Amino acid sequence: RKTEGFGAALLAWYDTHARVLPWRAQPGENRRADPYHVLLSEVMLQQTTVAVVEKRFPQFLDQFPDLKTLAEAPEADVMAAWAGLGYYRRARSLHACAKALMAQHGGVFPQDEKALKALPGIGDYTSAAISAIAFGEPAVVVDGNIERVVTRVARVTDEMPGAKKLIKGEAAKLMPDARFGDYAQAMMDLGARVCRPKAPDCLLCPVRSYCAVAGSAEAESLPRKAHK
Ligand code: ADE
Repeated sequence: RKTEGFGAALLAWYDTHARVLPWRAQPGENRRADPYHVLLSEVMLQQTTVAVVEKRFPQFLDQFPDLKTLAEAPEADVMAAWAGLGYYRRARSLHACAKALMAQHGGVFPQDEKALKALPGIGDYTSAAISAIAFGEPAVVVDGNIERVVTRVARVTDEMPGAKKLIKGEAAKLMPDARFGDYAQAMMDLGARVCRPKAPDCLLCPVRSYCAVAGSAEAESLPRKAHK
C-alpha cells in the first residue's frame, strides 16, 4: 500500500471541499486560526455536534472576545454562557486554562504540544489540535473521525481501544510535509462527510487509491469495537 501522496491528495480535496466553519481559517485565506478560537471550538466540539457549536461559538466569543476577558470573568458568567452545551466540567477547566495562560504565559499560548498539555483541561487531542491548527506544527491529531479514516486506510483490524497506539503510528505515516492544520481538519471533514461510520462514500473519496479497504464491505466494520 502506498502512502506517498496521500496528504497532497487530501489537501487538494480540502481546498475545494472544506466545510466553512466560524473558527476556521479557510484554505487560501493564508492565515492561521487564532489559538484562543481553536481552544474554544475544540473544547466545545468534544461532546457537542458541529451544528450546535457553529451557533454557540460566535455567541460565546461575543461575550468573551479574548483570553483575558475570559480569564477575568466571574466563573458564574462562564458557566451561564455554557448553558445547554452540557458537560459543565469542560467550561470550568476552560476557564481555569484561560487563567493559567494569563498567570503563567502572559496571555500568550505556548506553541508546542508538551507545554500546551501542561495546562488545565488540555489533553493529547486538544494540545495536538491547537499546535497543528493555530501554529502549523506537525502534531499528529487523532479524534474519533480521524481514527475511523486511519483504521480503514491502513486496515487496522485490532479492537478499540487497544488499537489506539497503532492508529497514532499509522496516522503519523500519512502526514504531508506542510499545512498540518489544514491536513488535520481535512481528515476530520473526510471522516464526517465521506468516510462515514455507516455507508462510507468510497466512490467519492479523494484518497480511495491509498485505502486498503475502499469499496469493500470491510470498510464499514472498521474501527473494530471490542465485544462485550
Ligand atoms: N471536530 C472537532 N474539531 C473539529 C474541527 N476543527 N473541524 C471540524 N470538525 C471538528
